[in-house]
Amino acid sequence: MRVLLTGGAGYIGAHVAVALFEAGHEAVIVDNFSNAHPAVVRRIEAIVGRPVAVHRADLTDPAATAAVFQAEADRGGLDGVIHLAGLKAVGESVEKPLLYYRVNLIGTLHLLSVMQAAGVRTLVFSSSATVYGEASPPPFAETAPTAPTNPYGWTKRMIEQMLEDAAAVDPLLSFVALRYFNPVGAHESGLIGEDPRGVPNNLMPVVAQVAAGRREKLFIFGNDYPTPDGTGIRDYIHVMDLAEGHVRALEYAEAHRGYEVFNLGTGRGASVLEVVRAFEAASGRPVPYVFAPRRPGDVAVSLADPSKAERVLGWRARRDLAAMCRDAWRFQSRHPEGIAAASGEGAARS
Ligand code: WQD
Repeated sequence: MRVLLTGGAGYIGAHVAVALFEAGHEAVIVDNFSNAHPAVVRRIEAIVGRPVAVHRADLTDPAATAAVFQAEADRGGLDGVIHLAGLKAVGESVEKPLLYYRVNLIGTLHLLSVMQAAGVRTLVFSSSATVYGEASPPPFAETAPTAPTNPYGWTKRMIEQMLEDAAAVDPLLSFVALRYFNPVGAHESGLIGEDPRGVPNNLMPVVAQVAAGRREKLFIFGNDYPTPDGTGIRDYIHVMDLAEGHVRALEYAEAHRGYEVFNLGTGRGASVLEVVRAFEAASGRPVPYVFAPRRPGDVAVSLADPSKAERVLGWRARRDLAAMCRDAWRFQSRHPEGIAAASGEGAARS
């Protein structure tokens, strides 16, 4: 299949692009490069050993989005879309809700309109386990009630609803939503990985930067949760397992019609302290930390019930926490200051 990957130069997108090529598909990247470095495309090409088509465009610009589809129609057309582009920082979404609704919802609506005009009827959407909130006890199955606790999570849940409603009235449509748990790690080549701009929000990049000496210590947000060691438990999933799950979901979407939602998680939880110990073992470096107050909005435990993806997609996560830490460390240690600095292009992000 020839697949348009929106946000394809981002952390998840770059790994999905590699997994698509490795499975014999062709990924065409569209990205506005607001949170990704252009050098990532060349690194994807180095991994997959072939040129990768890329478009610089913003989905909130309908004309630019239509131009991408027209350009691809002239090259033989697209068989589907994997939609990863969007703003994804929970904390920022609380401060700037209307920005998140505009970018994530309107960008998706423009994409769906252009897909309809172009006759592209297969979409895989990047959703998030954040939609579950604390509505029910973990592990979360896809049938669990959803109750987002922040605007970012609400944009994901609203887009899921848009897709479900659209697919309900058009039998030719095939839409699959993937609820990510906590993606971490990097491709084994060490060429691509999580490369957040500025101060990272998520645990693994912070831990990696502490291990590399870029950051003095880790602040552990709360050690008084009702968990065995008092720190928060999450379902960390290797980004390449996540990427391979996208390939299975795309192939499923191509072969079926209608709307479906799947969790992409391992079903195995790890606490913050367990991640710290695993990272120290993988890197051979100390990760000093101090306990700090809980972070507002955090839940004690987030854990997937991954059985539906295993049953329906024939997919399950294979890589363990040690591999996640090993691969994250390889990328971090090769790019102490991130890809932009390593590319000698300064902060070339637009
Ligand atoms: C993990 C654990 C923190 C940083 C979020 C989004 C989710 C997805 C992944 C987009 C928690 C603790 C963290 C730190 C810490 N993003 N922590 N010190 O919050 O589970 O999920 O990112 O799709 O939608 O909600 O991930 O990595 O921020 O936190 O102690 O400096 O690490 O309290 O227990 P989270 P996280």
